[in-house]
Amino acid sequence: MPQLRVLFTQEEIRSTVGRLAREISRDYEGKNPLLIGVLKGAVIFMADLMRLLDMPLEVEFVRLSSYGRGKVSSGKVRVVRGLLRLPIKDRDILVIEGIVDTGITLDFLLGWLRRKRPASLRVCALFDKAMCRKVSVPIDYLGLSVPNEFVVGYGADWDEKFRNLPGLYVLEEENQPQGA
Ligand code: PRP
Repeated sequence: MPQLRVLFTQEEIRSTVGRLAREISRDYEGKNPLLIGVLKGAVIFMADLMRLLDMPLEVEFVRLSSYGRGKVSSGKVRVVRGLLRLPIKDRDILVIEGIVDTGITLDFLLGWLRRKRPASLRVCALFDKAMCRKVSVPIDYLGLSVPNEFVVGYGADWDEKFRNLPGLYVLEEENQPQGA
């Protein structure tokens, strides 16, 4: 079994989500944003964040995938399923993403959304692996920076496993020396 090393505890994530919710509540006061969560990774973040948002809002999801079963992005984003039903045009759109790595997934989604002419388009990402960026993407509300390591938990998976872990963990290979 691979080893898991804690990067952010449940409590650290909880307080970060609280801070993001306060920033978003302040900026969207008097508005009625449409939150678009990127499945599957953002599912837990969306559930926790939206319950802390003090405003009327609506929620949609898109299912995008670029990693398949591996640890490295394929570089090609696949729209696995278009789940959007509500109109985007003239809405204040806030994309909710669990982790931004190469930026390819987010860049693809933002391009797709921009063509639908929203009133505004912003991004909230809980985790950011900025060192891995291949495409520059704007992040308006950023939670925590993550080093260049493969992470799982709080929605993030390896081969569809570990999404249910309450914190964020580095997945270490079996033969990797401990404490390195
Ligand atoms: C993960 C994650 C992001 C994306 C970020 O999704 O949830 O959506 O990768 O990577 P990128 O910045 O390099 O594009 P994944 O494709 O693994 O699908 P999943 O959300 O269903 O796990």
